[in-house]
Order: sequence, then C-alpha cells, then structure tokens
Amino acid sequence: MSDEMKIQTMMHEQRVFEPSTNGSKDAHVPDMDAYEALYKQSMDDPESFWMQRTQELLDWKTSPETALEWDFSIPEIKWFQGGTLNASYNCLDRHLENGRRNKAALIWQGEPDEDVRVFTYQMLHSEVCAFANVLRSRGVKKGDTVALYMPMIPELPIAMLACARIGAIHSVVFAGFSAMSLQNRIQDCEAKILVTADAVLRAGRTIPLKPNADEALAACPTVKQCIVVSRAGLDVDMKPERDCWWHDCLTDSMHSECSPEVMDAEDPLFILYTSGSTGKPKGVVHTTGGYLTYAASTTQQVFDLKDNDVYWCTADCGWITGHSYIVYGPLCLGGTSLMFEGVPSWPAPDRFWQIVEKFGVNIFYTAPTVIRALMREGVEWTRRHDLSSLRVLGSVGEPINPEAWIWYLEHIGHGKLPIVDTWWQTETGGIMISAMPAATPLKPGSATLPLPGVDIAIVDDNGNEAPPNQGGHLVVRKPWPGMLRGVWKNPERFKETYFSRFPGMYEAGDGARRDDDGYFWVMGRLDDVINVSGHRMGTAEIESALVAHPAVAEAAVVGMPHDVKGETIYAYVILGADEEESDELMKELRVWVRKEIGPIAAPEFIQFADELPKTRSGKIMRRVLRKIAAGIRDEFGDTSTLADPGVIIDLQDGRDDML
Ligand code: PRX
Repeated sequence: MSDEMKIQTMMHEQRVFEPSTNGSKDAHVPDMDAYEALYKQSMDDPESFWMQRTQELLDWKTSPETALEWDFSIPEIKWFQGGTLNASYNCLDRHLENGRRNKAALIWQGEPDEDVRVFTYQMLHSEVCAFANVLRSRGVKKGDTVALYMPMIPELPIAMLACARIGAIHSVVFAGFSAMSLQNRIQDCEAKILVTADAVLRAGRTIPLKPNADEALAACPTVKQCIVVSRAGLDVDMKPERDCWWHDCLTDSMHSECSPEVMDAEDPLFILYTSGSTGKPKGVVHTTGGYLTYAASTTQQVFDLKDNDVYWCTADCGWITGHSYIVYGPLCLGGTSLMFEGVPSWPAPDRFWQIVEKFGVNIFYTAPTVIRALMREGVEWTRRHDLSSLRVLGSVGEPINPEAWIWYLEHIGHGKLPIVDTWWQTETGGIMISAMPAATPLKPGSATLPLPGVDIAIVDDNGNEAPPNQGGHLVVRKPWPGMLRGVWKNPERFKETYFSRFPGMYEAGDGARRDDDGYFWVMGRLDDVINVSGHRMGTAEIESALVAHPAVAEAAVVGMPHDVKGETIYAYVILGADEEESDELMKELRVWVRKEIGPIAAPEFIQFADELPKTRSGKIMRRVLRKIAAGIRDEFGDTSTLADPGVIIDLQDGRDDML
C-alpha cells in the first residue's frame, strides 16, 4: 500500500470501539468522566496538578518549592525547583519498606528459553548498590557521564540505576549501532567509563560487541576504563590497563549499601542520542524530578499498572521506550517489569506469545512493525498459546495502520482488549497522546487524546491553531515535566530545532490532524527524518555516511513505504567521475553504511543516478525523490523550479530497471 493510500484509509477510518473494561472501577482512570475531569483540572491549573502528581508518585528528600519556571523563548524549563531526590532510591529503596521487598522487580528472559533471571526489589537493590560502589570506587562522581553499550541483559538496567544512584549521567547507546556511532556519542558526551559486553545474542547468533567498543575507544581519550559483562563466554581481547570484567570488578564487600546521592530536581539523569533532520545525532538531556514524575505518571495512567501485573514492554533499553517503560516508569511504581533479550521471530514466530503464556503477562507494549511482521506469519502461531492473561495492549513508534490494529485486537486482544496507541518522542520523555484503557473509546489508527497535563495542538504554517480535520504541525504549548531540558552542550541547536519555527511552542516535527471529536491522527514526520521499524533515522546522517565513501560524489536518501517496516531506506547515489556502477559496489556501499552507522541504517535500495532533481538554486527536491522511490508516476506538484525536468523521467526509468 502506498503512503498516500495508507493516509486515505486512515482518513476514512470511522470505527469506534467502546472500552470493554468500562466499569472497571479500580482502574486508575476508570471512565471518560474521570479523564475529562483530570484533563480540565490539569489545564486550569497545571502547576498544582503536577505538584500534586509528583507528591503522590515520588518520595522527595526535600519537597519542591515551586512547580514550574519556564520561558520557551530562551528556552528554559525548570520543574520542581528546590526539591531534592534520587531516582534509584525511588525505583528501589522505598519499595523495600512498602511491602514489595520480595516482589519481582525485574523478570529477565534471555534469548535461550532456559535463561531466566528474576530479581526481587531486594535483589535488584543489592545489585545496583554493588555496581554503584564499583563506579564510585573507580572515581565516577556526580555529574560525570557513563556510556552503556550493552545487550538486553539485566546488567544494563542495573548499570543505569547504579549511575542514577551516584548522580552520574548515563548515556545508553543501542548495541546495534556501529563502532563509529558509539565513538561519536562518547566523544560528544565525554564519558569517563564505558560499560559493554563481550557479545550480543540475537536470533541464534553470537555477535561480538567488544571489538566495536575497542574500535570506538581508540579515539575516545576521556574513557579511561571499560567494564565488560561476559554474556556469551567469549574469549575477548582485554587491555589490562583499561578493561575489567564486570564479575571481577564486583567483590562481596561491594554488595553493601551505597548511599544514594542527593540530586536537585533539575540535575541531569541521562543523555540519549537521537537523530534529527540535520547534522549528527543530538544528545537529548532529561533531568531527574520531572522525568521520573512523568515516566511514573504515564505508566500508571496509560497502562493502568497494578501491583499484581506482569508488565512487558518489548523495546530495547537503547531507546527512550526502554528507559521510560522498562526501567524508570514501572520500577518507580513498584511494578514487575519483564525484559526480553531476543527477537519476535526466533526460534519461531510465536516467541512473544509463548513468553506471554509462560509469565502470564497482563500488559503488553510493542511496535506496529512487530505486529505487521507477526501478522504475516499467520494466526496459527497466536493460537498455540494461552493469551488469556492479557488485559491491556499498547503500540508505539509509528502510526499503526487500521489493518494491523484490528489484527492485534482480534488475535492478541481476544477481540475486546483496549489497545493504547501511544504517541511520543525521545524528547518528550514519556507518552503524550494515548487512550486510557478503561476510559477512552478507541478509533483504529488514532492515538486518541492528550494525557492530563499535556497542552498539545495542531497549527498551520503560521502557527495558528488548525480547524478540525485540517492537517498541520503538532506542537505543545506548555511545558510538561518529562520534556527534554536541552541538547547536550548545544543550546543553539535546542532552540533552533524545537522553539524557533513557532515561537512560544515546542515543535514536535510531526504532521497530524484532529477530527471532530478532538482525536489526534498522527501522519508522520514533516522533516527529513524517516521511521524504519519504529527507529528514527536522519536522512542527512545516512547521506553523509554514503558520501564519505571514496566512490560516491553525491547522495540523497529518502523513506520509501514498506508493508512491514513502515518505511525503508532508499538512496540515490551519484558516483565519482571514474567510478563504475556495479552490484558489488552497491553491496559495498551497504556494508559501508552498516559500519559507519549500524545495520538499521543500511539502505535497502540504492539507485545509481546521473543527476538529482534540483531547483535552480541547487536545492535537492526531496519531495520528488520520495514520490519516485514510492513508484508514484504523477502528482509531483509544482516542478517549475526544477533546473532540468527531464531528470524525473531518467530517475523513474532507473527505478524501473532496478526493481
Ligand atoms: O514520528 C513520530 C513517531 O516516532 C517519532 C519519535 O521517535 P523516537 O524519538 O525514536 O521515539 C520513538 C518512541 C517514542 C515521532 O516523532 N511516533 C512515535 N509513536 C507514534 C509515532 N507516530 C505515530 N503514532 C505513534 N503512536
């Protein structure tokens, strides 16, 4: 289905599903009246709303004096000034006293089915204290940065919480990124220590990770020490003066208490790099008090998390979804969070459903791309397992097409479970638009309504609120506690990216419309960011990787609609004068990008071209390139500014030859 057609189906989607758990009076937001009352209260007086919310959800060492100080024109946002707290204390210590000491905090399912580890709150506390003591003993202090480049193993959340405990700022780098990507991020955040592992287990393979870390660290002078978890038992090259095995760093005495550092509300908790439309990935900064309040608040309201639930978010901790909805949100609430190391399709396409049955999962949160991929495998895989424990289903990362939504409902949700389609971003820290499972009538493909405390709107190109059903830019008009506080070491980029086009508002970069019921329908990015399987990639990054190859003179990258991935990467490449087009070179370029950025950035299609469609002033017309990649033969809009309109035909012919 083409992009256009998908949007058309979404525009015509009329079905409404009333909440089946309506009447579940014990839900955190039991019905629509409760949602509306909360929303109104939060808009009438956002500061008291959030002050009350944070007092309910967190244990502050010193209570905040003011809720909010802000000025989007600087921009500056400060939540809960005067308050002090520690995030790891809130996620661990306080649960030791409130009856949850022996409750499972983290259930870890490794890729091999027999690899299961369960950590009660007491056990997790002990492991986090131990690793925090390791970091402290190695000279990591409050305000230092620590890079984590690790597979989905328990040591990853343990390391995150250990950093939080001693006031160090963690920066998790997804283990699927290349050595170069890791290096760029470490150089930018100037990490003092890197924590990594020997290898990643994925789909039955053992993929070495430590060599990437070594390659990255060759040009990272700030990193003096590297701690390595043995996941696969590989015999890796260790540099004695720099490297230490995780298990060798930990001595018994380390397991004693490690006093949590007292942090100001606005002290940074972590940096997470994300792609933008220009330049290198930017380090999004989240701070302690506001982020934790928001992660906890949204986990509670959107998933209706209860004490007895087994809650499973299938994301990787290398992305924001893993930060907020595997680690900080559920643990802050004292929940049981399931963490999975493997992939949905290995050893067979029922892996997820088998895990749901094995642990009696109640709340399941995944991405549309996973649903679409599993849908293709056929319903027999879902029928093999008892999925009756499920109560709430979630979706995140990209718009979910109504077809996938209905499949999710029918085959995973017993035809009646609420599906919360959650719209948010790395920058927002937590969910911004979503249904509440017991309250909100659902429309397939719509993320529905803003969460309490979120003043979100759609504006036209001039910044005026768009009338119902008219597409426009998604903006947020007031701060919310989970919002980013900056781009690491780059205040200009912070201002320029989010606050310059529409003064006084946060610009999300997404296009959306609101229907007559006020429901949001998010259409996707309006900038040069593409969304491949829910992963955000900047086209500029991929282009700069391609042109770094000696054979490439120029490159333009666009997203092409893809049935499973949402979008896939399509690159137009102009070779240098003496270079020959060949299949080998195409393969080489793919490998090159994998090495420069990581496998997720490798273009699926590479079209060699003689010329790109450019305006007379030399600007590439990406709109035209997107249409050609999608196989659209007309509807190019105004091409009168094209220097050479004949380029379009040549590129179309080239595409036809290639596909
Ligand atoms: O375009 C939106 C899309 O993903 C972008 C954010 O990507 P990232 O920062 O990597 O965070 C992903 C996980 C929160 C958004 O700008 N997006 C995310 N969720 C949805 C979505 N688009 C439509 N519907 C969603 N539910």
